[in-house]
Amino acid sequence: MQNYGKFYQKPWEERINLIKKNEKLTEKQIQILETAAQNKTLGNTMIENYITDYSYPEGIAFHYLINNKDYIVPMVTEEPSVVAASSHGASIIAKAGGFFASTSERLMIGQIIVENVEDTENLTKKIQKIGKELLLVADQAHPSLKRRGGGTRWLKTRILAADLVTIDIAIDVQEAMGANMINTMLEAVAKKLEELLNQQVLMSILSNYATECVARATCEIPVELLAKKGISGENIAKKISQASRVAQLDPYRAVTHNKGIMNGVDAVVMASGNDWRAIESGAHAYAARNGQYRGLSTWKLNNNCLIGELELPLPVGFVGGSIGIIPLVKVNQDLLKITSAQELECVIVSVGLAQNLAALLALVSEGIQKGHMRLQLKSLVIAAGADAIEEQTVVDKMLQAGKRDLESAKKILKEIRKRDKNAGS
Ligand code: HMG
Repeated sequence: MQNYGKFYQKPWEERINLIKKNEKLTEKQIQILETAAQNKTLGNTMIENYITDYSYPEGIAFHYLINNKDYIVPMVTEEPSVVAASSHGASIIAKAGGFFASTSERLMIGQIIVENVEDTENLTKKIQKIGKELLLVADQAHPSLKRRGGGTRWLKTRILAADLVTIDIAIDVQEAMGANMINTMLEAVAKKLEELLNQQVLMSILSNYATECVARATCEIPVELLAKKGISGENIAKKISQASRVAQLDPYRAVTHNKGIMNGVDAVVMASGNDWRAIESGAHAYAARNGQYRGLSTWKLNNNCLIGELELPLPVGFVGGSIGIIPLVKVNQDLLKITSAQELECVIVSVGLAQNLAALLALVSEGIQKGHMRLQLKSLVIAAGADAIEEQTVVDKMLQAGKRDLESAKKILKEIRKRDKNAGS
């Protein structure tokens, strides 16, 4: 470590030189680091010890009809078949009239955790008495939020243990995700609390369990729209509702079911410059809100229609944080043609539902490997060492041979190179 000194104080060129000196990287690898560093100023602004930019592909999913408005949806993901599946799911739902999406208020919860409490009942009574004063202190710590129509909404206490109490404050964050604002407000309240009640505060921080900032999407698909490759729509609809039941019953299946939903959710959260770790952790806690981890979505068969529903906490922002400084985020907001955080929530929850439909449809009909692996072949072929010119030929040969594994890709590539060499000599 001492070879690097105070890395964060050094200019970018010096950081790269230190890596060259200290690590066993090849010239080519160093060149990769250097050429990928496309936006050094932004990188240095956003994170610490910046060396390069790590880029993910961005694609567009089509066919999204949400609350009677058409959307094209930018998605950022490293996984093949996610964007195709998203368009596929959305196109079926569009034929059925589209998604109906709605959101709750955008309230975030901040927590002030009080420790070493001698009498928890007595403390909660005292806190309730000075509640209004505490909310005023919070609002005064961030007056611009109040001016924009947001600010504190309520305060509640919960006893966590014989010596621990949490004070939960709900804050309307308007168009922002609000983490920094909330933390500033909470710290001001914590200080006041220590002054007024002489109580020790363990910590003050927002909660990423955003139960008061929830989005919901539903759709109603006539079963005939689900017919696929000789299997009747009714049969597929029955199997999808059965798959949904399994995800309610079994956590092993529920996690994978929800992973499929998050394939879409995370990709739009990333494209919109939001914090996907916050969304992920909140979504999974929500999936376990009744004491058992379950699928976040449900699919039920009713009157020859498959009815899908997805609800999850979506505390995303439309302004603030990294949203304002990553140029691509503004481009993506304009591609989406959204004007508010609530509209973004509606899009994201709909993408989650479409993504889930496409995955379940594949799983209960031809199986996931056929469609997914067809689209993953290109990555496999590149991993086998093919260059851009060789790529398509190897993919075609693998499709012809019905092969989908790395070893076969390497073997086919070797044969092609041998053939080309012989043809050239
Ligand atoms: P298909 O029915 O063979 O494809 O599905 P198609 O050729 O009939 O096309 C249907 C539509 O899909 C197209 O309609 C496109 O919108 C889209 P069109 O616009 O042509 O009228 N589409 C594409 N878009 C862009 N590029 C492409 C492309 N191909 C089709 N190349 C498909 C093929 C892959 C869509 C289907 O098999 C599918 O949706 N599979 C699910 C794939 C998936 O979920 N992948 C995520 C990785 S697996 C996973 O992580 C989740 C999982 O574990 C979750 C769970 O267990 O619940 C499965």
